[in-house]
Parts: sequence; C-alpha cells; structure tokens
Amino acid sequence: MATIRQAMVATPVLEGERRPFPGREGLFNSLAAVVPEAEIELALPLIERVAELKASRDAVVVAHNYQVPLITAGIADFVGDSLAMARFASRCQAPVIVVCGVHFMAESVKLLCPSKTVLLPNLAAGCSLAESIAPQDIRALRRSHPDTPVITYVNTPAAVKAESDICCTSANAVAVARSLNARRLIMVPDRHLAEHVARSTGLEIIHSGGQCEVHAKYAGTDVAAYREAMGAVVLAHPECPRDVQERADFVGSTGAMDEYLETRRPRRVLLLTECSMADNVSVRHPEIEFLKPCNLCGFMKAITIEGVAQVLEGLCNRIEIDPLLAARARRPIERMLAL
Ligand code: 13P
Ligand code: SF4
Repeated sequence: MATIRQAMVATPVLEGERRPFPGREGLFNSLAAVVPEAEIELALPLIERVAELKASRDAVVVAHNYQVPLITAGIADFVGDSLAMARFASRCQAPVIVVCGVHFMAESVKLLCPSKTVLLPNLAAGCSLAESIAPQDIRALRRSHPDTPVITYVNTPAAVKAESDICCTSANAVAVARSLNARRLIMVPDRHLAEHVARSTGLEIIHSGGQCEVHAKYAGTDVAAYREAMGAVVLAHPECPRDVQERADFVGSTGAMDEYLETRRPRRVLLLTECSMADNVSVRHPEIEFLKPCNLCGFMKAITIEGVAQVLEGLCNRIEIDPLLAARARRPIERMLAL
C-alpha cells in the first residue's frame, strides 16, 4: 500500500526518479479492491517488461490521474494532475520520459524538457478542448479586446500557447487570473473553467466557448439526486457545467480532489470527473464508497501498457516541436510555473 501511495502523492522516487517495480504480491495486494485478479495476471508480464525497459532506457513514466490503476500503480513513477505533471517535468533528470496522458500533456513536458526524448504511447490521444481552438482564434480575440491579457488553459496545442501571455491549469486558474492585476481577461478555451474563475474572482472573463466532452455530460439534476437521496459528498471538476459546480460540495482539479479526499475521507462520494480518478483513490482508500455515474475519456483510454512497452522498445512516437514555436510556447508555461 505504501508504494502505491507514493505514486499518487506525486513524489518522484530517487535513484533517478524511478519507482521500483512493486512486485507481483505488492501489485495484487494494492489493486485487489479495483482490478479483477485475472486482469492483473494478464497484465503482469507486460508490467515486468516495462520495468526492464525503463531501467535499460533510463526512462521514467509520468501519468495523469485519469490513467487506469494498472498504469498508475503498475508502471508510473509519478502520478498527478496537469500542473503536477508539468512541475515534475520541469525538474526531471531522466533522459527519456514516457507520458501516460494526452497529447497536450506530452507537448508540455517536451516544452519544459527540450533536450529530452519525450514519448507518447498513442499519438492519437487528443483532447476535445485542445481541438476547439486555433492560434488565429487568439489573434482575433486580441483584435476584438485590445490590451486584455490572454490566459490559455494547458489543454491546448503548443501553437495556441505561443499566442498567450500565461498558461493555467484547473489547479491554479484562479491564482493565475488574480496575478495579472487586470479587471478583464481572456481565458481560453474552456467556458466552464472561465466562468468558474469569473465567479471566484469577480473579474470579467472572455472565453471561446470550448467544452470538455467528458465533463460537459454531467447535469445539475444528477447532483441533487445523489446528494439528497444518497447522502453523498459531491466533488466536481471545474470543467463541469455551472449548475453542477453550484450544487457540488467542492470544485477543484483532480489533484485538489485527491487532497480533499485524502484529508477529509468522506464515507460516500460522487466524483464528477473521469472514471479512473475514483479507481485510483480507491487503491489507497477502499473504505470510501464511490457512486456512479462517471464518464470515460476515450482519449486518455487510448494509452495502454502495451503502448508504453512499444514506445520504450522502439523509442518511437517522439514529441517534436519546431524550436522557434517551442521558444514562444514555453514562455507562458514557465511564467505560470514561476507563480
Ligand atoms: P487536471 O487539470 O485536473 O489534471 O485535469 C486535466 C483534464 O484534462 C481534465 O479533464
Ligand atoms: Fe480533454 Fe476532457 Fe479528456 Fe480532459 S477529460 S483530456 S479535457 S477530453
């Protein structure tokens, strides 16, 4: 159990930053509550193969909270939200980094570690938010709202970040908005995150109307039913619609949700975010009852242990960014990390 906890609280392991293979028994013990035995048995040879490949390639695996427990507990050296992943990358020593997450996350790692080999096990792992905005949209917003600072959510391609003043994640969006000392801001692309920041700060926020196809499916009526009829504590991601956020007990990034559950340990919880988040918390806290519904992100689920083994074997699916573009896109991320 201690080994898994280490992965989830996002502390890199020394000896490079690699977390040792938890061992067959360790894996069965920790995953018993959330993964069927047959599935663990089936995955074990691949998990062992990835451990060998990580050692021979001097590689680390960084995973988002939406990856399945076989990845977060079985092969990841670091697990966290988008902000924690970027912070990990900014101080990572390993020459090869495999990102178990979506394309924009791998791009952020490459921007922060330009000299390292950054691998994404499936290059088709995109994001509906990232696809909702293009660089020319930012330029048009700047023309319509001159002298208004632009905050770009990290869920965007590098070319969009390059047009921005500063980046944010769902964990620090309010702090980033306040740091700019402006009355009016442009925050793209997610409308629900932007409106959450506007409500939290009282600032005027212009957004581009994007939505996450996973979180936009939740509705406020679901929250009321689960909260009142089942006595569940409701935690919602800020990408959820406004009526969901207003009825929830807590709104925060996946990292903030994790911290809330770690410290408060509610008995029964409705977690309005991607399904694997609850499974990952269950690994450490089988005593917390997670109610359904939850929604799956098909992009996150495009990452598999087999894919990780393949990219480590062939050092393929490398993330490459034009150096001139990278220099422009790196600035807003570094500005965010400096806050
Ligand atoms: P976090 O910022 O909480 O990691 O979430 C990223 C994401 O993709 C949410 O859908
Ligand atoms: Fe993108 Fe939504 Fe999937 Fe997060 S959950 S990666 S925002 S599509």
